[in-house]
Amino acid sequence: MASASATLLKSSPILDKSEWIKGQNLRQPLVSFVRCHPTSPSVFTVRASSYADELVQTAKTIASPGRGILAMDESNATCGKRLASIGLENTEANRQAYRTLLVSAPGLGEYISGAILFEETLYQSTTDGKKMVDVLVEQKIVPGIKVDKGLVPLPGSNNESWCQGLDGLSSRTAAYYQQGARFAKWRTVVSIPNGPSALAVKEAAWGLARYAAISQDSGLVPIVEPEILLDGEHGIDSTFEVAQKVWAEVFFYLAENNVMFEGILLKPSMVTPGAECKDKATPQQVADYTLKLLHRRIPPAVPGIMFLSGGQSEVEATLNLNAMNQSPHPWHVSFSYARALQNTCLKTWGGRPENVKAAHEVLLVRAKANSFAQLGKYTGEGESEEAKKGMFVKGYVY
Ligand code: 13P
Repeated sequence: MASASATLLKSSPILDKSEWIKGQNLRQPLVSFVRCHPTSPSVFTVRASSYADELVQTAKTIASPGRGILAMDESNATCGKRLASIGLENTEANRQAYRTLLVSAPGLGEYISGAILFEETLYQSTTDGKKMVDVLVEQKIVPGIKVDKGLVPLPGSNNESWCQGLDGLSSRTAAYYQQGARFAKWRTVVSIPNGPSALAVKEAAWGLARYAAISQDSGLVPIVEPEILLDGEHGIDSTFEVAQKVWAEVFFYLAENNVMFEGILLKPSMVTPGAECKDKATPQQVADYTLKLLHRRIPPAVPGIMFLSGGQSEVEATLNLNAMNQSPHPWHVSFSYARALQNTCLKTWGGRPENVKAAHEVLLVRAKANSFAQLGKYTGEGESEEAKKGMFVKGYVY
């Protein structure tokens, strides 16, 4: 009888705290190892990042009970739209003031384990001169970085898009690690009304897999985000079918690229009807469809599933997450919300220094509500009318 394959994995020790904080320990990436099967002539070369242990540890820290991710990685253009909604100009100073507000909410780290930043913020200081990254680390929040370069039309498709950013990515991820980032995000999208065509799905999945492999090589845990857009009149069954196809393809290419599943996080859309569908779904239906999808497609080796909010209202996103956490799962099922964490906070702040305290309080209310939802203990009591408003925008770009 054949014995188990012999596997040799050389991995580095986990960084101690001071190294982790300063991000100065940049080790040489990549060690190859060979996996041999004694009865078979075939030899597979499997590559593992020299950061393997650290990647696993980072992913576990982010996927820790009662915590999730604050996505605050809006590009300057998108951040400008947010600021315009409260009558502020899109200047670097205003973006800095808003991001300072978010990272400095007292006690945020109790509910938030990671924060995704835009490049500007990763290298920026707060309005009182501390590095944003240091403020996050003091709050026990892992700094992350959006590394994709956005969406452009995909020639040869049905008006669909593809995500840019692979060129030069390994130099950028190495520099981001040195600056203190420990995880990365790449958001590509799939549109149901426009197809999705086999080409667009393949391109999305391949891009995510290449990005994930490159990020792991630099010590960054990749968040894999093929967002299935809410746009459309389709019902929940169509979303489910498309999501099954997309995740099958994503995992096929992740495996082909030797991505270590224990060192990634996923950022899926919940399975819901299209935003313009007449039939609405209850949180229970969203949870049932979404969990069925996850159980069919996501290996238990993946530590965390951090949903995006995608235009749902703050309360809706929390209720849906809570419904999914009524039973135990092989993975941590949590949130990585931008709009569904920030909306009421932004409105409450309104760009006025005298509102900072109130804005912090409402951000903590939302973060705590989602923390409860991660634990399956959210009741939905006492939510404001503002938090119940939907935020869907047709053709939303991030
Ligand atoms: P939303 O939660 O606003 O959909 O943001 C998703 C996202 O990808 C942010 O990183």
